[in-house]
Amino acid sequence: MTERSLLVVVLAAGEGTRMVSRQPKVLHRIAGLTMLNHVLAASQAAGATRITVVVGPDREDVAAEARRVAPEAQVFVQTERLGTAHAVLAARGALEQPADDILILYADTPLVRAETLLALRARLAEGAAVTALGFRPENPTGYGRLIMEGPELLAIREEKEASPSEKNIDFCNAGLMALAGTHALKLLDAVKNDNSKGEYYLTDVVEIANEEGLTAAAAEAVVEEVVGVNSRVQLAEAEAILQRRLRRAAMEGGATLVAPETVFLSADTKLGRDVLVEPHVVFGVGVTVADNVVIHSFSHLEGAVLESGVSIGPYARLRPGTRLETGVRIGNFVETKAAHLESGVKVNHLSYVGDAHVGADSNLGAGTITCNYDGYSKFRTEIGKGAFIGVHSALVAPVTIGAGAYVGTGSVITDDVPADSLAIARVRQVTKEGRAVEMRAKLAEAKAKASKS
Ligand code: UD1
Ligand code: CA
Repeated sequence: MTERSLLVVVLAAGEGTRMVSRQPKVLHRIAGLTMLNHVLAASQAAGATRITVVVGPDREDVAAEARRVAPEAQVFVQTERLGTAHAVLAARGALEQPADDILILYADTPLVRAETLLALRARLAEGAAVTALGFRPENPTGYGRLIMEGPELLAIREEKEASPSEKNIDFCNAGLMALAGTHALKLLDAVKNDNSKGEYYLTDVVEIANEEGLTAAAAEAVVEEVVGVNSRVQLAEAEAILQRRLRRAAMEGGATLVAPETVFLSADTKLGRDVLVEPHVVFGVGVTVADNVVIHSFSHLEGAVLESGVSIGPYARLRPGTRLETGVRIGNFVETKAAHLESGVKVNHLSYVGDAHVGADSNLGAGTITCNYDGYSKFRTEIGKGAFIGVHSALVAPVTIGAGAYVGTGSVITDDVPADSLAIARVRQVTKEGRAVEMRAKLAEAKAKASKS
């Protein structure tokens, strides 16, 4: 990684009216994380030494998300929307502090990779004062065009200002840009709003740099990396691109995805080697899966840690706070939440294990339910090592089942069960011989009477 210091300015002032949402655009999520989070993460991975985020007026929510992801981030407000250069200058306070490289990113262009940001920085290290990021979209309409002469970038012409021949250029401006810290403020301050939109165009810094005898350059990105998100349709398109990228990375990291297009990952999902993911599995945020884990079809995981050799599903639901130690088996229609299951625990069918700790090698029979909530408060269930919970038992928390204890089928356990004890909490069976014959006769008579009247 380069020794040069890096200031990142993230423009996050976009309202995104086309999203038709009460939420600001940049807080919409892709692969579990907000678009702003994606851009901040790429900035950090590209070596940011300082991060600033420019938000619109009264956007405390965007500022809060910026600080959550990058606690050291400085937030600036662009009070009026007067163009991209004007937005960058809202962070003047940060631009005045020395930095070798400055990267200007858009929070609504969330798929840019750190590698690409490093390529932009490399051009600055080679002496360019400005580096734009170009790409070749299928349809260039609406984008600024990069006017190149050999490796040098002469100007970026906005669609509205472009001549017919310039409109034929297929090399377009992705928007994000790198500026040499020593020249940035001077270039930005020289931008005028003398164009058809009456805006301060960030893109004008290219021509200004050339007039000053500085050089401007361009790097190129693939289209998939620079898609901007302005609508829910584009949000879904960006999601699809990122999912393809995440699935590929998971497979390259040694996980088998039997039908990758049916598996949905979060940007922070961690899968170990020789993990097998069957079709139709959803990973919410905060999931870490160690080696040799099998995730059967139709499982949904969120905020869960799975140690090696665990097997879950089909139809398992792991909710936040789930920790499954080595070799745990979770079967079909089992839900866990804030549950720590030590190694070798089996919960194979139709159960709910919430706010619970289960000692190693315990077996929870089909239909075991931890009753953790009384409508007001949550309570914990503690199960020791090697316990056996019979089928269809309700464990009414707070309750402790000792190590090696045995709970009889169909029990409602309200009192603690000491270690190695047998607890049976159900009504004893009553059998009346021959009574079925009597009962049938009675019932038939009653029905006949009723149909006559
Ligand atoms: C910009 C580029 C264009 C490029 C295109 C790529 C300029 C002048 N043009 O055009 O060359 O092809 O992006 O998508 O830079 N923003 C603010 N405050 C403002 C104006 C914009 O924060 O006052 C933010 C927007 O929220 C957005 C970004 O800057 O995130 C780009 O602004 P937008 O108006 O979409 O620029 P384009 O016209 O698309
Ligand atoms: Ca745009």
